[in-house]
Amino acid sequence: MISDATEVAARVDLVQIFIFLMMAFWFIACNAVLVYFMLRYRRKGPDDEVSDIKGSHMLEVVWTVIPIILVFIIFYVGANVWKDLRTPPEDAYEISVTAQKWSWSFKYDHGAIKGGDLFVPQGVPVKLNMISNDVIHSFFVPEFRVKEDVVPSMYTNVWFQAEHAGVYNIFCTEYCGKDHSHMLGKVHVLDPDTWEHWVNTGLMPGEKQLTPVEAGEALFVERGCKGCHSIDGTKLVGPSVLDLMGREEILEGGERVTVDDNYIMDSIKYPDRQIVAGYPKGQMPSFDGQLTNEDISNIITYLKTISSE
Ligand code: CUA
Repeated sequence: MISDATEVAARVDLVQIFIFLMMAFWFIACNAVLVYFMLRYRRKGPDDEVSDIKGSHMLEVVWTVIPIILVFIIFYVGANVWKDLRTPPEDAYEISVTAQKWSWSFKYDHGAIKGGDLFVPQGVPVKLNMISNDVIHSFFVPEFRVKEDVVPSMYTNVWFQAEHAGVYNIFCTEYCGKDHSHMLGKVHVLDPDTWEHWVNTGLMPGEKQLTPVEAGEALFVERGCKGCHSIDGTKLVGPSVLDLMGREEILEGGERVTVDDNYIMDSIKYPDRQIVAGYPKGQMPSFDGQLTNEDISNIITYLKTISSE
């Protein structure tokens, strides 16, 4: 079970195994003594009188002091790892993480904002500064043994140093609404050459540049739009995007609008400014600052292709 995905992960596992073995030892030892006493000192007949024991200070001290020492050992071993797990190195590479229903987005030093998957360099300490735009989420990478709540109005952080290039799972592990179970992602740990390539191009080696429609579709899925806006006309939390472009919508308050590029852009950035009548307010998170202008343009291009004709 010992993970070597990060150095801390292996130590977290050691603490767990240590505590487990210690408890297993005492559980077996105590129960063995219990069974032995039951058999050895059981009443043999109606006249078998039990001697009256008044207590033993010696025994009291022994079974109080030994557990206290054990608890302090457990505390010491755990606190030692906890301290390192919670103290990011000064020179860590920092990435801003934003959680919102129901996706992750990651903003990097070089300005890139990417949704869905996280890309990190191998062998370099990485610190994630995390905040939520709406409710409480929790960032969890099981292989790294890091998990931390991501809350509104307060930054929290985790750090890790991934030792091997590879792909690991990200889970949201705080129940955050309807699509909580779909709030997933991957951590891609990239070797130095691949990392450099990715930083410069935004692409993995061999990955080709997506067309605007493909990029828009990918964003529509990664950013969780799909969870609330169907592409087949089904009414979900929000209006379907089937035949969206050119459609006439009646807004809350009675105003009529014809959907065009600007209406869609505004809806993505400031969703509560133009609620379609019959739909709840405050459901859609703002993607202002979460998506680049190019991202929004790609999404609009994709939405134009969702047509029943
Ligand atoms: Cu976000 Cu569960």
